[in-house]
Amino acid sequence: MDALSKKLAIYSKLGMRSFHTPGHKGRGDLLSPLAFPEYDLTELPELDMLHTPQGVIAHAQQLAADIYGAEESFFLVNGATVGNQAMFLCLASANCRGKKILIDRRAHRSVVAGLILSGLKPEYIAPEIHPDFKLPLGLDVAGFCQNSDDQIACHVTSPSYYGTLVDLASLIKWRDKNSPALPILVDQAHGAHFRGSFFPEGAVTQGADLVVHSTHKTLAALTQAAMIHVQGPRVNRTALKQSLELLQTSSPSYLLMVSLEKAMSSWRDFYWDDLYEEVMLLHKELNGTLRILTAEDVGQYSITGLDWTKILVNISTLEIEVDDFVKLLRTSFLIEPELWDDNNVLFMLGIGSKPEDVRVLREALKALAKQYSIPHISCKSLNNQAPVQFLTDARQLPPVRLTPREAWLAAKRTVKLKDSLGLIAGETISVYPPGIPLIAAGEEITPYVLSFLEQAEAYRWQGWQGFKQKEILIIDV
Ligand SMILES: Cc1ncc(COP(=O)(O)O)c(C=O)c1O
Repeated sequence: MDALSKKLAIYSKLGMRSFHTPGHKGRGDLLSPLAFPEYDLTELPELDMLHTPQGVIAHAQQLAADIYGAEESFFLVNGATVGNQAMFLCLASANCRGKKILIDRRAHRSVVAGLILSGLKPEYIAPEIHPDFKLPLGLDVAGFCQNSDDQIACHVTSPSYYGTLVDLASLIKWRDKNSPALPILVDQAHGAHFRGSFFPEGAVTQGADLVVHSTHKTLAALTQAAMIHVQGPRVNRTALKQSLELLQTSSPSYLLMVSLEKAMSSWRDFYWDDLYEEVMLLHKELNGTLRILTAEDVGQYSITGLDWTKILVNISTLEIEVDDFVKLLRTSFLIEPELWDDNNVLFMLGIGSKPEDVRVLREALKALAKQYSIPHISCKSLNNQAPVQFLTDARQLPPVRLTPREAWLAAKRTVKLKDSLGLIAGETISVYPPGIPLIAAGEEITPYVLSFLEQAEAYRWQGWQGFKQKEILIIDV
């Protein structure tokens, strides 16, 4: 009985230090203007309506637009997920038949959902894999900026989950010169806090046409509360509003919406300056002991900038498995990271993080690094390890035979992996990490893809139902 509430009650008493979403980190002082249950209301006469806002919601959205430099901003109550979906849906029209949308392959799965909903045809851009972290941290903008009339938009993810930035300035410059009607869409889910002197410039002020923010990830908004911002003439505003109305609930939560308004007004420079100092100290003191992604990595492997609130630590120079490392962090230091893979652990800060949190993390990392260090192995040796072949080259991306929507609607059947060469995948399969699709539904199974799938046990998979049986879902043509 009430297993979920019991679990939450027990967990909240553990006193874990949050290095994960949401950005408020459970701080009552940041959330106190929200009264629960009093503010859990519905669309009453004085309270405006999310889908046709003319009163207080319109006012709050305008505040957000002014803050981010957009012409219009819209509140989202189903995360940046619904923002990505609406971005794609609003582009779908008779004009896009036969045209493609350029997509950074590091896209979140809500982008694939957007492709299914819209029927748009993707042309993926392969990211650059960093050889130390073995993660898709960079995107070579120059590599895909070519004159082309058959593209209807370009979608990039910046910052990445790990805080690395795409060279948006060059992308927009190229667009303005060569393809002025092309909308640039940016998934800036992890960058709602990009304002002020401590952070990179936000995508809206850089000139992107549509930008989605997962406000809850880094600011003091409740989980699921997010925003989409629009400017300029390239995106049809009516289609955008219709898409949001189609995809969002007819009972939007006032708690989520008011938390977005409060998140805007509670943003202060002074929440960040002490944190910044502590993170720089952590980089300095652990530099050389553990491989940490820092400002020194900017300019390499197509990384154009870095958000310091993401602390990415590679532990492959230590004599400990990552699962055990995380277990020690959790049990001995009460540190709860955002995510980890076979080599790296990611710690996320937000507006609710305190300098003391970073100090505790620094001491914990130092202690574990000392305890598990391997003589004569240093961070410098990481680069000598075998490079990851996974999707390092655009030529390895499999050809798109069907759009994700066509693949979604098509009849499918299961075949043995060994018989699948040249067939069209019916499921989207990712190696995790990096979590980007090795093959998306509708793409042809190439020898390169098959060679990875055949080594099933060597990887962790997302979206592959039959990996234990060595089977794959294909389109039944
Ligand atoms: C890059 C990116 N985009 C979009 C999303 C979806 O955001 P939300 O959880 O607010 O729906 C995520 C979530 O992790 C993400 O990492």
